[in-house]
Amino acid sequence: MKNFKAYNVPKMDIKIKLDANENPFNVPEEMLKEICESVKKIDFNRYPDSETEEIRKAYGEYANVNPENILAGNGSDEFIKIIDEAFLNESDKVVILNPDFSMYGVSAEASGGNIVYFDLDDDMKLNVDELIAKVNSEGAKLLFFSNPNNPTGMSLKREEVIKIIEGCNCVVVVDEAYSEFNGVTVIDKIDDYENLIILRTCSKAVGGASIRLGFIISNKAILGEVKKLKSPYNVNSVTQVIGKVFLKNPQRILNILNIIFRERSYVCSAIKEISGIKVYDTESNFVLIKCENAEKVYEELVKQGISVRNFGGSKLKNCLRITFGTREQNDLILDSLKRILG
Ligand SMILES: Cc1ncc(COP(=O)(O)O)c(C=O)c1O
Repeated sequence: MKNFKAYNVPKMDIKIKLDANENPFNVPEEMLKEICESVKKIDFNRYPDSETEEIRKAYGEYANVNPENILAGNGSDEFIKIIDEAFLNESDKVVILNPDFSMYGVSAEASGGNIVYFDLDDDMKLNVDELIAKVNSEGAKLLFFSNPNNPTGMSLKREEVIKIIEGCNCVVVVDEAYSEFNGVTVIDKIDDYENLIILRTCSKAVGGASIRLGFIISNKAILGEVKKLKSPYNVNSVTQVIGKVFLKNPQRILNILNIIFRERSYVCSAIKEISGIKVYDTESNFVLIKCENAEKVYEELVKQGISVRNFGGSKLKNCLRITFGTREQNDLILDSLKRILG
């Protein structure tokens, strides 16, 4: 562990933050009042509800799934770690896509897992049959992937996800952190497969990244294993009550989704017009682009108070990931990119 690098979130003087795939809209005044009222009712001297009953019920209604199939966590990050601890013994193999969400690798390494990377192709597409063959020939215990993929925005069809679950002889973790943006889910299938785990979060479409609230959704046998490793009071009372306010207004989330869909088309069409940029297909709330000297472009954007995600090396060399913001923010970054690359 001494050689391990900590996951640092850099502090910068940034006015437009398009680097973490967050929702660009803060809560409206009315909702803020409701949040304050519910926080006032908390018994601050008491531990939170360890069963997280009400928030599981609220998420169950939002996602159309039985609350008995859900556990709540301090962000879905918490469960990535717990899944590794629960299902990996020393040197067991875990298959991770390259690229995919970086925490899968960080967590697997910390758990002593043996990571096998499976590359997306040059257009950042996944060959599902080859993936299944790799997972099985390696004798992997776990497969993690996000759909849509972070950071590429690549989206698998529901049939493809089901093919992976059915084809792989191991526990398959489908991270649906961004599923509201591609409309693809297998959440209705959790009781059909012994090996399926789904991760969800309130940090993206729901717009509650600050409260750290995520969920693991699976069958009762798998949740039983996860529960053994979860600390009893992992979701604090403030998060539990605020989460309920977020989730009881799905219409607000749908309205925001429609704005983001519109901005996605707007930004992607405009970036495609800028010469020297390759734009990868996206069905998420961000887009991955590739250009010469991305490091320099990144630095220029930072100077203009705009942050995007910069990925140094290997498969993501010269790639930047841009989260879709408000129209005003999107126009500013588009203008900046045109100026820098023009
Ligand atoms: C694919 C994916 N899964 C999980 C997470 C973490 O979500 P949370 O905020 O619930 O920990 C992220 C965050 O960026 C993500 O991109």
